[in-house]
Amino acid sequence: MILREPLRRLGHTIHALGTVDSTQVEASRLAAAGAPEGTVVTASHQTEGRGRRGRQWLDAEGECLLMSIVLRPAVPSGHAPQLSLVGAVAMVDALTTSVGLRAAIRWPNDVLVGERKICGMLPAAVTSAPGALGHVILGIGLNVNQSTFPEPLRNIATSVRIETGRVILVAKMMESVLATLDRWYTRFLASGVDGLREAWLERSETIGRRVTTGDGREGVAVDLAADGALVLRTDIGETLRILAGDVTMEAAGAARH
Ligand code: BTN
Repeated sequence: MILREPLRRLGHTIHALGTVDSTQVEASRLAAAGAPEGTVVTASHQTEGRGRRGRQWLDAEGECLLMSIVLRPAVPSGHAPQLSLVGAVAMVDALTTSVGLRAAIRWPNDVLVGERKICGMLPAAVTSAPGALGHVILGIGLNVNQSTFPEPLRNIATSVRIETGRVILVAKMMESVLATLDRWYTRFLASGVDGLREAWLERSETIGRRVTTGDGREGVAVDLAADGALVLRTDIGETLRILAGDVTMEAAGAARH
């Protein structure tokens, strides 16, 4: 089914599918065939949902928002990861305005409620020439109506339903996310990371916390750099810039200075 809505940068065309391998694959196919910026693919279930760093993204059929958006920003290819910062800020706002949930960002782009993950983003960039960005497929997975999670997610994931006690129409949630993302993406196109850095910092759970990177570096997260890197201060006073990967946060209040 194709739904059309005029006058929006994102979500003017929505391909709403049933079971697919991954909406990232469907959206990539459409983008390669010339689909315009803002084309969205959503599905009720994925058999091969993709997460960051080669991980799997597991969903429960019909209970999650699974979507991939075709973006064609006129920025260098190195800026593609910044789009997940845009997505994370937009998702926190969408959760607040649509269901009154207080969510926060774990660098770079996990959205958490308390210490549990409710949403993840996956920006997949395709270059058209060395250094030039062709398009980005921004994948978003939001747990909406699950009431429990199987292992290995049981203790680390949550959903809108678990947090609010309400069952929410996934389509309504998508509308809200697209409207919020439309606003933050438009701001990113005008001003880059500068236009959303303050908003990201305000919504971040990571700044001020002691973190460990995937390759074992440790420090207190002190800032988000202009290029989206996480800035850490180590125990011996060094400054580290973390450009990619995951961080594990120590419990709030555990930061040693
Ligand atoms: C993460 O690891 O946190 C990123 C998860 C991104 C999942 C979404 S669900 C919709 C889209 N299709 C996929 O296969 N992955 C993304």
